[in-house]
Amino acid sequence: MDYLQLEGIKSLNGTIKISGAKNASLPLIAMTILAKNSVHIKNLPSVVDINTLLKLLTNLGASCDFHDDKVLVNTSNITETKATYDIVKTMRASILVLGPILTRFGHCEVSLPGGCAIGQRPIDLHLKALEQMGAKIDIKSGYIEASAPNGLVGCDIIFDKITVTGTANIIMAAALAHGNTTLTNAAREPEVVQLCEILNDNGVKIEGIGTAILSIHGTGGKCIDIKEFSVIPDRIEAGTYLCAAAITRSELTLSHVEPKHLSSVLAKLQEMGSSFTLTKDTITIHPSSDIKPVKIVTQEYPAFPTDMQAQFLALATQANGVSIIEERLFENRFMHVSELQRMGADITLNGNIATVNGKNTLSGTDVMATDLRASSALVLAALVADGITNIHRIYHLDRGYDKLKEKLQAVGAKIKRLKE
Ligand code: EPZ
Repeated sequence: MDYLQLEGIKSLNGTIKISGAKNASLPLIAMTILAKNSVHIKNLPSVVDINTLLKLLTNLGASCDFHDDKVLVNTSNITETKATYDIVKTMRASILVLGPILTRFGHCEVSLPGGCAIGQRPIDLHLKALEQMGAKIDIKSGYIEASAPNGLVGCDIIFDKITVTGTANIIMAAALAHGNTTLTNAAREPEVVQLCEILNDNGVKIEGIGTAILSIHGTGGKCIDIKEFSVIPDRIEAGTYLCAAAITRSELTLSHVEPKHLSSVLAKLQEMGSSFTLTKDTITIHPSSDIKPVKIVTQEYPAFPTDMQAQFLALATQANGVSIIEERLFENRFMHVSELQRMGADITLNGNIATVNGKNTLSGTDVMATDLRASSALVLAALVADGITNIHRIYHLDRGYDKLKEKLQAVGAKIKRLKE
């Protein structure tokens, strides 16, 4: 296994190109199951989760030709409708194939994704909505067995909670369903918006895009032709590098980014003392030397994203004063706290509320990544820690950050990837 070795430095300098969004790419790749043609997708990030989903589709019989940041996917020869445990256990977002396979083929088996480090991650809302659309759902030997031999039927669905992949799954299921589906309390994340836009541009009429009430007019079982498209920029990757600039007090520019997807993140960084120069597709951060403490509550988009909580917690260790960070979406998303404490962070955890008593002097040491975003928080802390930090189990990082070492090296970070 590899590990990252970082040496605390004074500042970074230059421009970082942001890659395509992992959490947009995954539903968009699953969406190709609805297509009768070969689908060309551009601006994909080169991260493990993308390779995992493409492997899953290949196992079903699809052909996936992935080069650089482009993929050509043809699902017309899918013969298998079972997503097996060996793949699903490595990436719970595999559940995104359930809706498309079921609505196209009338049957599907997907291994139950199980929980993950950050929480139990149930999928009850996905299954309840598909049952409302006429699917018969059984859970047998750890697998979801779903069938709808005459296809799915559009209906009115209300999600008890806002679920991002649940919304994506039902949008794709409704795309080929018979009749219209109204989905209330839908997720409004930019990644969900792009899925709606692509479907709407390619024969599936969708009203209310970007709002919490979507109306999807199904094609009645007819597959669609999907024109080439490019994945939106990764707002969480962008937010992570903005935190790298803020924590090292460096002026950095991010290119190929969508500033409007980061409003709540920019607002919090502004509260902590940074200012920004924005263009249509770049963000330049002008950090302050004196980082102010902050209060954060994670909520669904457009509020502050849970996927930026760990990064801001690391940043808050460098603020002069007490910061309060409340995690409202997942029940166990503070595993980075104990690793940061080992570096010298003064953090108190009380249930889902972390109190950070900044400013802390951090010391380099050996730390362990526990999940994707926790890993990036450790990288941020290591950038300002005294001495050398070794971050182990960075396979977590590889799932969602495209060329992180290279991107940070290019702006002056002292970072190496070594073998255990
Ligand atoms: C997506 O996960 C993202 N993953 C996560 O990003 C992100 O943290 C999360 O949305 C919240 O924004 C992808 O898009 C691939 P949810 P998802 O369903 O869809 C509860 C990352 O770091 N819930 O929106 O699985 C659930 O327990 C990853 O890139 C149910 O109760 O999250 C949670 O409390 C981590 N029943 C809340 O809803 C359900 O059926 C939000 O979960 C579904 C969800």
